[in-house]
Amino acid sequence: TWTMVNIVEEQIESIRAQIGERGHAICGLSGGVDSAVAAAIVQRAIGDRLTCVYVDHGLMRQGETEQVERDFVAATGVDLKVVDAEQRFLDALAGVTDPEEKRKVIGREFIRVFEAAEAEVLGEAVKETGETVAFLVQGTLYPDVVESGGGAGASNIKSHHNVGGLPDDLEFELVEPLRTLFKDEVRLVGEQLGLPPEIVWRQPFPGPGLGIRIIGEVTRARLDLLRQADAIAREEMTAAGLDRDIWQMPVVLLADVRSVGVQGDGRTYGHPVVLRPVTSEDAMTADWARLPYEVMERISTRITNEVEEVNRVTVDITSKPPGTIEWE
Ligand code: XMP
Repeated sequence: TWTMVNIVEEQIESIRAQIGERGHAICGLSGGVDSAVAAAIVQRAIGDRLTCVYVDHGLMRQGETEQVERDFVAATGVDLKVVDAEQRFLDALAGVTDPEEKRKVIGREFIRVFEAAEAEVLGEAVKETGETVAFLVQGTLYPDVVESGGGAGASNIKSHHNVGGLPDDLEFELVEPLRTLFKDEVRLVGEQLGLPPEIVWRQPFPGPGLGIRIIGEVTRARLDLLRQADAIAREEMTAAGLDRDIWQMPVVLLADVRSVGVQGDGRTYGHPVVLRPVTSEDAMTADWARLPYEVMERISTRITNEVEEVNRVTVDITSKPPGTIEWE
């Protein structure tokens, strides 16, 4: 951790050198570790000249939005703007069942909502101070830099980025405090910065969220069902101490499938959920995780007892390839 202290101090210094007194920075938070750590470092460097924006698309798992709104803010004191866009996303997703179409809709709405929030935040900063530079903080990691063929010194990259409602001469610069780090180092830096373990050790979660874990149309009621089942699965994995042994475990709701069951003294006709525990190095390939039987049993019993309308729990035992990690 001595090295982590150095990394944090070095980054804070270099961000101060880059930004100086020149302008306002903005950072989109996703709930994931990279954007959270990037934001926390920049916040240490420039304080309330950083505003974070979190778009709540209503597709997060139970407790995740609160983790950002409450726990991340408590840990960092960052200035956070939360945009509640749940209804907008649900409206846009109504009737959409094709996986690629879902991703497109979610991506498009996300950019619109984020840019509107960004324009509002920066617009206010420009009005107050007359600044002409805006800094965009991104949680780019070293592997992303290598993959996209980028070299050193790219913190000077200027990205012209059209956001409606901002002065034409406002210039955007990128701030990427994690450009030299790998994921495991980012987690250590996050711990060093005092971020909550739920954020620092969070497993990968797709941007489109639970929207691509409901097979069929995405509705509020289906999201609520899946959130309950997912929360139970995560709780039991944590209780069994398995969180760091697996890469991730999507829980998928087969919303358009019904299966017959018997509960109490009655026949039920409910939905199956699928547990998809995998181990992986980089998500390019994956193996299905051999979870202990007792853990699978507890998850199955609790989900079928506690989640009305779910009467069957199955486990996906397909590796990648041929299956992808997510079902959509
Ligand atoms: P697949 O399903 O392609 O997933 O094996 C590989 C990894 O990527 C995540 N994933 C996504 N992440 N937007 C994201 O930000 C997406 O649209 C998306 N789709 C999949 C998935 O959770 C896994 O970690």
